[in-house]
Amino acid sequence: MKKMTSAEIRAAFLEFFRQRGHAVRPSSTLVPGNDPTLLFTNAGMVQFKDVFLGREKVDFTRAATSQRCVRAGGKHNDLENVGYTARHHTFFEMLGNFSFGDYFKKDAIHYAWDFLTKEMGIPPSKLWVTVFDEDSEAEAIWLEDVKIDPNRFSRIGAKDNFWSMGDVGPCGPCTEIFYDHGEHVAGGPPGSPDDDGDRYIEIWNLVFMQYERDKDGNLTPLPAPSVDTGMGLERIAAVMQGVHSNYEIDIFQNLVKTAASLAGTTDLNNSSLRVIADHIRSCAFLVADGVLPSNEGRGYVLRRIVRRAIRHGYRLGIQDTFFYKLVAPLVAEMGEAYPELAKAQEQVERVLKKEEERFAETLGQGMRILENCVAKLDGHVIPGDVVFLLYDTYGFPVDLTADFAREHNLSVDHAGFEVEMSAQRDRARAGGQFAADYDQDIKHDSVTDFTGYHNLEGSVRILGLFKKGQPVESLEASDEGVVILDQTPFYAESGGQVGDSGVIECAGGVFEVTDTQKQGGQLFLHKGKVVKGVIAEGQACEVSVNADTRKATERNHSATHLLHAALRSVLGEHVQQKGSLVNAERLRFDFSHFEPMTVEQIAAVERIVNEQIRANNPVCAQVMAKDDAVKAGAMALFGEKYGDEVRVLTMGDFSTELCGGTHVQRTGDIGLLKIIGETGVAAGVRRVEAVTGQGALEWIAQREQALSNIAGLLKAAPDKTADKVQQLLEKNRNLEKELEKLKAKLASSAGDELTSQAVDVNGVKVLAVKLDDIDPKALRDLADQLKNKLGSAALVLAAVSGEKVSLCASVSKDAMDKVKAGELVNFVALQVGGKGGGRPDMAQAGGNDPSLLAAALQAVPAWVKERLG
Ligand code: ALA
Repeated sequence: MKKMTSAEIRAAFLEFFRQRGHAVRPSSTLVPGNDPTLLFTNAGMVQFKDVFLGREKVDFTRAATSQRCVRAGGKHNDLENVGYTARHHTFFEMLGNFSFGDYFKKDAIHYAWDFLTKEMGIPPSKLWVTVFDEDSEAEAIWLEDVKIDPNRFSRIGAKDNFWSMGDVGPCGPCTEIFYDHGEHVAGGPPGSPDDDGDRYIEIWNLVFMQYERDKDGNLTPLPAPSVDTGMGLERIAAVMQGVHSNYEIDIFQNLVKTAASLAGTTDLNNSSLRVIADHIRSCAFLVADGVLPSNEGRGYVLRRIVRRAIRHGYRLGIQDTFFYKLVAPLVAEMGEAYPELAKAQEQVERVLKKEEERFAETLGQGMRILENCVAKLDGHVIPGDVVFLLYDTYGFPVDLTADFAREHNLSVDHAGFEVEMSAQRDRARAGGQFAADYDQDIKHDSVTDFTGYHNLEGSVRILGLFKKGQPVESLEASDEGVVILDQTPFYAESGGQVGDSGVIECAGGVFEVTDTQKQGGQLFLHKGKVVKGVIAEGQACEVSVNADTRKATERNHSATHLLHAALRSVLGEHVQQKGSLVNAERLRFDFSHFEPMTVEQIAAVERIVNEQIRANNPVCAQVMAKDDAVKAGAMALFGEKYGDEVRVLTMGDFSTELCGGTHVQRTGDIGLLKIIGETGVAAGVRRVEAVTGQGALEWIAQREQALSNIAGLLKAAPDKTADKVQQLLEKNRNLEKELEKLKAKLASSAGDELTSQAVDVNGVKVLAVKLDDIDPKALRDLADQLKNKLGSAALVLAAVSGEKVSLCASVSKDAMDKVKAGELVNFVALQVGGKGGGRPDMAQAGGNDPSLLAAALQAVPAWVKERLG
């Protein structure tokens, strides 16, 4: 066995399979392209899911990849184990070979065995094999054909040897190969009671993809038995580098060392260093692949991982923001194999730093609460309400608290937490649950020919009809369903552009298309309702797309490309599309940028786009190889899945993007672009909304109408309205000042009159009056003034507004030890249906029965007299 670096192993693996007729494909992104059923790419087969299901055709039947994967959140979740075992990661690379109806069990097993024992030179005596206990075919291949040692072989049940991508999708039995790290490591062979120790580590899983699982758990055989394998690069690297823990392999060395130096520790075995070294990989790649921290869905999983890493930094005693500093050593390690990571370095650093700063505000406080709770804890469970408080107020994801608990041999009360946060949980679930509608069930092996780049009408044939996801021969009036055609001018939603609407007319019926969606990249689903008669499979029909809607949508779509390029030229190259929605009414464009755009920037972008519209450049589409397109500078978009052949759309030399959408013929067709909004949608993501063409004119007309209404009210010409409003505001301010002055004057002259109403009670002036036309808020000032005028005094002022009585009592210092303002106000308040109290010199209260106020005020002198007694 010769020592090999991770890069060498990766290369050797791909080369081994290339020589055996496999197409070597690049890793796809961590956000599965157009797949709402899956949180993250969690295995090499994800990019081939539709190929296994027979929904996508590719021009190879065997492939090999080194795929970046994240297993956190979702079905395959290793987050909790990171830091506790030598072999679990949130991010890892999976080496895989795939057969799409080509070779099956026998070749797959031989390839794997040959690669490990011949290519890598691993002695068979170090390997252990398992098969699914019902798979006697695989068992026979291993024992009789490969002739492995039957003492290093076991049969395992479905829990470990039946693999599925997610709750739905392709799945099948598997056979696994383990490496025995030797007696000095604890743990038994696979299938033995102590097999979760670290001695026997699974390095390669060969899945015999045979079924598709639907959302009710039913298994349907795939069109052709296939093979999907996965070998963790980090695990095989540990074997080849003669180390036991994945964290000791080359890729992790510098990450662990950098984390250690940031923490000022020399103990490289500290588990927190491993957690940080693991988490920086998933976090950096997720951000590079377009995910941003947020409170739901993919963004929340990212946030959880970042926060868990930061908490481990805190555990190591790191005081400052540190996590983003690991991006540079990561890029040094992996930037060559993944240039997209190197390119995004600055953006990744910025996002991670911001997220850390955000959490730093509450981390220390939350940790103190947690530590106090543990110090006082009776038992071994951190109560649900504490877990909830930490989650809700201090931003501690539950797994972070659970991780802390585990370090202290405690657990968390998950049930109690769930009770506390059912409301939030509902929200999180809404964000985390992924659509599983009838469309998922539709199966049809045709490929729809799209004719809609140039035509909006056509004569076509119905190839299939579906009702609630099930095939039917016909659909009748008012039936809702899906129509499959042999060819179609209807654009199916993708790249942010909505699906087309229109009609399908056959001899006996009319189907109104309300939306068009795509399945597996090549099958168009026309969704809608029969509005007349009956339509049947096999019928010929005439179709027409709703042209007004389509054309308005195209104007918005083409304008989006110009907007994208203009934003990059005004704000900088860091601007990347994060999402877009283009329909007939407007366009919405989300992009990465860290602060609100200024008024000047918005105006500049709008000006540039309109210049490009007036330049009236032709909009050209050209199909070419993806690599050539990227070399030519075309921008590929987030969350989109591209094939080998891509469509490159150019507008003069101003914009070049990969795009399958439909567009205007020349930029001048857009007419006009008007930006109508700029807002923030998430940390580091801004949104611009705009209208074009007729929509822009209508928007402007509405504004004009509003302006002319204002001008009418102001009796001014529209271009003079601002001056006029300015004048009115000034006038208003002056009037307000005047009014204040008059009020004060009035109050003080009223005060003079009031002082004369005070009665003398044992040398203290007592005044209890109801005041008309006074703002209750002014009572207090007036009471102060009167007290000053009267000298030694006890007074109660009342104001009535509707049924509400407001009271204010005030007592001078010299009388305060006997007569307390709080008691005085309460004495009156109790009689008018209220209650009150306050300081001895000044107190306020209220009541709700004004009819009793006069009597209550009359009783005040006697009450004071009694106190002064
Ligand atoms: N898809 C299989 C796995 O992830 C190979 O284990």
